[in-house]
Amino acid sequence: MEKYIINGNNQLSGEIKVAGAKNLALKIFPATILSDQPCLIKNVPEIEDTLRLWEIMEDLGVKIEKNQTGQYTVSTKNITKTELNNELVKKLRASIMLAGPMLARFGQVTLAHPGGCIIGKRPIDLFLEGFKKLGAEMIDNGETYTLKADKLIGNKIILPQISVTVTENLMMAATLAQGTTQIKNAAMEPEIKALADYLNQQGAKITGAGTPEITIEGVEKLNAGEFKIIPDRIETGTFTILGLITNSNIKITDCQPEHIENLLYSLKKANAQLEIGSDYIITKPSKLIATNIITHEYPGFPTDLQAPFTVLMTQAKGLSLIHETIFDGRLFYTDILNQMGANIIMCDPHRIVIQGPTQLYGRNVVSPDLRAGIALVLAALAAQGTTVIENIYQINRGYENITERLQKLGADIKQINQ
Ligand code: EPU
Repeated sequence: MEKYIINGNNQLSGEIKVAGAKNLALKIFPATILSDQPCLIKNVPEIEDTLRLWEIMEDLGVKIEKNQTGQYTVSTKNITKTELNNELVKKLRASIMLAGPMLARFGQVTLAHPGGCIIGKRPIDLFLEGFKKLGAEMIDNGETYTLKADKLIGNKIILPQISVTVTENLMMAATLAQGTTQIKNAAMEPEIKALADYLNQQGAKITGAGTPEITIEGVEKLNAGEFKIIPDRIETGTFTILGLITNSNIKITDCQPEHIENLLYSLKKANAQLEIGSDYIITKPSKLIATNIITHEYPGFPTDLQAPFTVLMTQAKGLSLIHETIFDGRLFYTDILNQMGANIIMCDPHRIVIQGPTQLYGRNVVSPDLRAGIALVLAALAAQGTTVIENIYQINRGYENITERLQKLGADIKQINQ
């Protein structure tokens, strides 16, 4: 079994480069299916989640070729089937991103309920309702769903709840629909704007991406594409917290701090000493004070940075209230932080109170999911003694070569297989 062994309480120094955004790579690759022409994708994060997505796409007949580190050519002209491999789909929630492009280009797609991180109920009702609005028929085959439409027809879709992947899926499907689609109450994440930029560059007609109202005028076909994936804002935030929790001067490079303004606002309130440039952040040792956060859809505080921020607050003076509003199972890892010496009380499944600062101690722990997993790495790096983290597949799903990148900063972390 693969584990991380981490000896904490070391000051770090040096630079760490932010990788391409996982949550854009998982949409850009599916988007290549909308065109039968080759697409060149750059700054691709080489992580477990992209590997799982490629397995599903290759099973459909897509050819994905690596030209150089982080750069891939994708050819979708030889797709031979419209049924996604059930077993592979169950391993990756983002496999649902293939539904819109497959339906739009081939008029049919069959897939199982997608798997992925266990962070709450995570239904797919909004995707299915949205595709129906675009004229698709949904057949429930028991274990799988088939969506069918000879030609999707543009429509006005009001999302009852803001959802990132539903917005992206419907936006992709609508690019090849007949007529105009309006998505209201759309999610506004930077990755959605970037996905629209990519599609527009291939000939799509999308306006308003990055705002709550997106308009898509359907086109007959998309051309070949070339695109560089934007920096991962969750890595940017996580590494900023890493520098602060280890009381270190580190420089986070190749990032877009404007995409984490809400985190930076909360860190400023917590008295974090940061130097922020247009594409870098430098952390400095800081005397942190307790700060409350409420997670919210973009541009609010990102749920994916809630766990790292919570760990940071275990080292801040005073009481902090953390309110997780997006997912219903995303605070249970705080039990593990308590085993490491934190003083956290769960008020209800959506709210915790942290009394800080408390010394953290190394323990044997199991990573419950991707973001809680990286939060445990941060806790271990701040703790006294040795921490062993199991189930690190969950962490490797989203962070490329994390052990080597942290080692370069002077962190005492290694991966062992036993
Ligand atoms: N929801 C429904 N029905 C649906 C779809 C979503 O009720 O059909 C609910 C969800 O259960 C949740 C809420 O809508 O309570 C919002 O979830 P959203 O759909 O926005 O999340 P997502 O699209 O599944 C993406 C990211 C997540 C990130 C969230 C929120 C990808 C592949 N995933 O998920 O990333 O936490 O948006 O920003 O883009 C991660 O990277 O660790 C991760 C979980």
